[in-house]
Amino acid sequence: MQIPEQFQLGAASSAWQTEGWKGKKPGQDSYLDDWYKNEYFVWHNGKGPDVATDFMTRYQEDIDLMKEIGLKTYRTSINWGRFFTDYEKLTVDEDYAQHIDDVINALLAAGIKPMIAMEHYEVPQFLQDKFGGWNSREVVRLFVEYARILFKRYGDRVCDWFTFNEPIVPQTRIHLDGVRYPHDLNPQKWMQCNYHKVLAIALVVKAYRDMELPGRVGIIHNWEFAYPRAAGYQPDVDAAHAYDLFHNRLFVDPLLKGHYSHELLTLLDHNDIQFKAEPQDDGIIAANTIDVIGLNLYFPARVREPEHLWNPQAAFNPRKYYDDFVLPGRKFNASRGWEIYPPMMYDLAMIMKHEYNNFPWFISENGMGIENEAQFRDDSGMINDDYRINFIQEHLHWLIKAVNEGANCEGYMLWAFTDCVSPMNAFKNRYGLVEIDLEHNLARRMKRSGLWYRDLIKNRTLPD
Ligand code: BG6
Repeated sequence: MQIPEQFQLGAASSAWQTEGWKGKKPGQDSYLDDWYKNEYFVWHNGKGPDVATDFMTRYQEDIDLMKEIGLKTYRTSINWGRFFTDYEKLTVDEDYAQHIDDVINALLAAGIKPMIAMEHYEVPQFLQDKFGGWNSREVVRLFVEYARILFKRYGDRVCDWFTFNEPIVPQTRIHLDGVRYPHDLNPQKWMQCNYHKVLAIALVVKAYRDMELPGRVGIIHNWEFAYPRAAGYQPDVDAAHAYDLFHNRLFVDPLLKGHYSHELLTLLDHNDIQFKAEPQDDGIIAANTIDVIGLNLYFPARVREPEHLWNPQAAFNPRKYYDDFVLPGRKFNASRGWEIYPPMMYDLAMIMKHEYNNFPWFISENGMGIENEAQFRDDSGMINDDYRINFIQEHLHWLIKAVNEGANCEGYMLWAFTDCVSPMNAFKNRYGLVEIDLEHNLARRMKRSGLWYRDLIKNRTLPD
């Protein structure tokens, strides 16, 4: 099977997950730094974001490796939590801003197109503490100003901008599931944050168009593909539909179609979930839909009707409409417990084709995290990660099949280029094409999958 010439094969990471804290000034914490400072269990063997992969100083070495592999695209983020020394007065940290300049220039010099997210969970902790983060409309304003500054500084060279990575995740963990600090269970706040992010995205799109810059603005969404337990049993089908509404359509509909679905708004209303909006907002959201969407897709959700009646006293959670469960007999990514189901690539492509009018999109993340990967080192010292090669190959197979049937998928960004820190558990799971050896001065070593990806980029051929 031949991969079409225009289909981009790239890789991804994010700022916070690679940079490390070198040169970070007092008060420049992002939400993720605070999370690591407050919850020690997320560190793994005492290693974490303080050092990360030290991309701050070793970026050139990594870009050389990207070039060796033949990447034409690299997706990463700018760390909003480090970009300013004063987040309200918008005083830019010139040292950090220069680092971003240097990285962009080095990528371009290597013939690699940068795709940049303005936030990959890196909301400044200062804004979280002072305004309650995305609950506040003031944070919307400050984010749009931040975006304008990025466009002015880098917009001549970066043409693929993404406001957020997975905008739904932080407030879901804090306000809906309560699993993340400060564990503030509050579905109203959850929806307010969701709404403010949708509004912020539309305002950033508008700012970009007003500046008449040549590129595109989009977002990265973690698509959770919900399969009902039994396709012929209506309560399971309804449960999967509800899952899809709350996990996917909540963001994707207003951003691609310019409005929320009536069904979602009615459901929220029935559950007494309101959010504050201003009269002009609807027009802004309708007029400024995004240009392109990146979809992170790792595993399918298996969904069935909820088994227990929802306690009417309990705070609202979309879970009242479904249960998710593990489908026996499947292959799983052992360390993450995520089911491996490559056909979901094809199924998602068909949703984008038929339900979103062939809107331009790409896979912005997909990959395989493995624990204790050093056990697979061969005599030459290289990690022999055939499991990763198979994983990528099978997922690409379904994606390219869809492209051949007319899906408007522009590319595949593998997570991740190098091993990197995870927000959930530091360096426990390794995802990279390139190993970061934490025991030996963060040495970079190509894995077998790195060599294989290099050949794939050259030959553009997958087994049929
Ligand atoms: C994605 C995130 O959802 O999953 C990444 O955008 C993250 O930041 C990746 O690293 C893999 O998850 P984890 O928790 O295993 O690192």
